[in-house]
Amino acid sequence: MEINERIKYIGVEDRTTDLFEGQYPVPDGITYNSYFIDGEKTAVMDTVAEGFEEIWLENLKKASGGRAPDYLIVQHMEPDHSSGITALMETFPETVIVSNAKSFPMMKQFFGEDYPDRRIAVGDGDSLDLGSCRLEFITAPMVHWPEVTLAYDSTDGVLFSADAFGRFGISEQDGEWDGEAARYYFGIVGKFGSQVKKLLDRVAGLNVTAICPLHGPVLKKDIGHYTGLYGKWASYQPENDGIFIAYTSVYGNTKKAAELLGKSLEEKGRMVISADLSRCDMSQAVSNAFRCGTLVLATTTYNGDIFPPMREFISALKERGFRNRRAAFVENGTWAPRSAKVMEEMLSGCPGMEFARTKVTLMSALTDASEAAAEALAQELCGAPGDEN
Ligand code: FEO
Repeated sequence: MEINERIKYIGVEDRTTDLFEGQYPVPDGITYNSYFIDGEKTAVMDTVAEGFEEIWLENLKKASGGRAPDYLIVQHMEPDHSSGITALMETFPETVIVSNAKSFPMMKQFFGEDYPDRRIAVGDGDSLDLGSCRLEFITAPMVHWPEVTLAYDSTDGVLFSADAFGRFGISEQDGEWDGEAARYYFGIVGKFGSQVKKLLDRVAGLNVTAICPLHGPVLKKDIGHYTGLYGKWASYQPENDGIFIAYTSVYGNTKKAAELLGKSLEEKGRMVISADLSRCDMSQAVSNAFRCGTLVLATTTYNGDIFPPMREFISALKERGFRNRRAAFVENGTWAPRSAKVMEEMLSGCPGMEFARTKVTLMSALTDASEAAAEALAQELCGAPGDEN
């Protein structure tokens, strides 16, 4: 695939991994993107995951016409796209690695070699002249590792964005980017919103015509759509005014309360997403919580605490800097319900939270009183945050 007359895609598709990074389901697979740049001098932008080196080197051979690359640029040392370094350096003994100085100790740790005589360390503002084009380097610490260094081809406006703007999945149909890109972002990069914001401020000053990430499709149209979404995500603002109901249920009664609440909210015209935290993909639930303006948590009191998948969920939100949302609670308990208190305490340290006044308490199962409380909560959530209705 040609990105432009100088840049060719030489990445690979992984349809076999079940869990990316050992925790994110990838039912539509994942790509490990790599690019060949021919600017008279030639460069390869990043490599691939372990097990894909052979097919990737074949792709490189086709793209380069068999020429040895002058440079291997390593934007990020995580093994999902650095595991081909050894194969390339052994295949092409003249190739020089260009990377952040922090990458080389990591390279030694992962692969036992850091190429002291075949490397160039680059930092923010450095550039690499390839002849007919020039790459400018932009460091982006913690997007998503400390050594991340993006490259911008200022001749054609192509931004090699490392993990930023990455997406799970192989298919490239229009309209599919947002959901899987959000799940990727909030799972993998979401903790580092302020660093992503800094990067976006830098990118805003560039004339970007294409974004080439390390996962997912190359983005050539509507660049403002992608940078706009990233801006919202990085500043922890909700993407929509939907209501995400995340529940757990031991005997089905908390689920009934969650469904009752969801039905009432939908009848009032609100967009509702619901998920059973014991069964759903946790990374999808985390993404939904960050994308929606309101979060409803419904769970059982359990061992004096809350049901374990709910604790895991709230911890995952906090770990990623959850904030600026309205939250409401539905609790269940047969002899001493206290899960609403525990959940509110867990979220109270998150900045900019507003908690609904109405709490719904079930003593084992729904009753007229708890159904009325669920309706009162639905009405409260249909008002604007802070409404005294
Ligand atoms: Fe795609 Fe941070 O690894």
